[in-house]
Amino acid sequence: MKKLVVKIENLDHFGRGIAKVNNMPIFVENGLIDEEVEIVVTKEKKNYMEGSVSKYLKTSPLRVKSKCIYFDKCGGCDLLHLSYEEQLKYKENKVKEIIKKFSGLDCVNKIIGSKQFNYRNKITLQVNKDFGYFKKKTNEIIAIDKCLLVDNKINEIIKELKQLDVSKVNKIVIKVTNLESMVVFYGNISNKINLNVDTIVINDKTIKGDGYINENINGLNFIISPTSFFQVNNVGMINIYNKVLEYVDGGNVLDLYCGTGTISIYVSKKAQNVLGIELNKDAVKDALINKKINNIANVDFISGDVGTILSKNNFKADTVIVDPPRAGLDNNSINNIIKIKPNKIIYVSCDPVTLARDLNILNKYYDVLEITPFDMFGNTYHVECVSVLSRRA
Ligand SMILES: C[S@@+](CC[C@H](N)C(=O)[O-])C[C@H]1O[C@@H](n2cnc3c(N)ncnc32)[C@H](O)[C@@H]1O
Repeated sequence: MKKLVVKIENLDHFGRGIAKVNNMPIFVENGLIDEEVEIVVTKEKKNYMEGSVSKYLKTSPLRVKSKCIYFDKCGGCDLLHLSYEEQLKYKENKVKEIIKKFSGLDCVNKIIGSKQFNYRNKITLQVNKDFGYFKKKTNEIIAIDKCLLVDNKINEIIKELKQLDVSKVNKIVIKVTNLESMVVFYGNISNKINLNVDTIVINDKTIKGDGYINENINGLNFIISPTSFFQVNNVGMINIYNKVLEYVDGGNVLDLYCGTGTISIYVSKKAQNVLGIELNKDAVKDALINKKINNIANVDFISGDVGTILSKNNFKADTVIVDPPRAGLDNNSINNIIKIKPNKIIYVSCDPVTLARDLNILNKYYDVLEITPFDMFGNTYHVECVSVLSRRA
């Protein structure tokens, strides 16, 4: 085992410390700027190395004691050794750096924080006799009894699950809302299940409840099915949706990558018409029900790939909202959005690198007015952004 003593000079975009030996970068998990540490080299490549700390020789005044007993093993959190205030500073600077580096823009606002703990309304537990999260970058399961990131209702359900024989199950998904809770088992479950939740689904068969759960966000009702996307942090979600709402100013709106239609429905009061497009058919089914239960007439939804649907139709839109997965917009989608010539594009992004790449393309025709980072995933390196673009005359 190769050991080295290094000084951490910076943090990378995954929350790891960066040190240098003979100009070669070494990425060190759980290392903070100015710390001197002894590390064990865990990976040695031509251009970089990775290491894990075996001894802290000098620690940073910014270091806080992690509140989680699994922090060193489990892959869920990256920044639990920083106070929440410092985490927010790190994320804001990271967005500024990425946007400047990849698109040359200087228009990033102050980050909007949310909750550091107990914010997640959904978790996926990996199962192998016991259950828990994957250890970072491995398929090894770290068994957990509770998680500090999740809504406490999920921790109560975990306690109940500990009483069940889940040895033949592959994966368990738990989703909770302000109103209800749901557990979905993937694989086999042999024993009778008696859980104190509203809905239980085994694979695609509902054995208790309706097979979906209800949520109420600022007076709007939403149903959430086992496989539909729903934002995992309600406080962060409302912050983001309010920002999007602030930018919508009437006319026809396209809500691309609309999931269960939450943004479409949220902004419908400020729009003439909203059309949502989403690949996941179950999410579109939920979106159509969500429209109905909220008595909203000026919103509709289509299921399919955004790029394909846009290229086959001649939609007119004053505002296009996009909220794509981490990969960002593909060429077909971005070219078709440009062809529509909306006055405004509102870009909700969960990866500042792909956001910067796409802004570079859109920047040929649009001014990027501002980008606001939002914290949705406290204690992790992830950061969301909302950007607004205005078409040049
Ligand atoms: C980040 S989520 C956003 C969902 C929604 N806007 C919300 O706030 O809940 C991205 C969504 O894009 C959908 N999606 C992924 N690829 C797609 C594609 N090629 N065409 C349409 N939708 C897609 C996913 O199913 C997912 O619901």
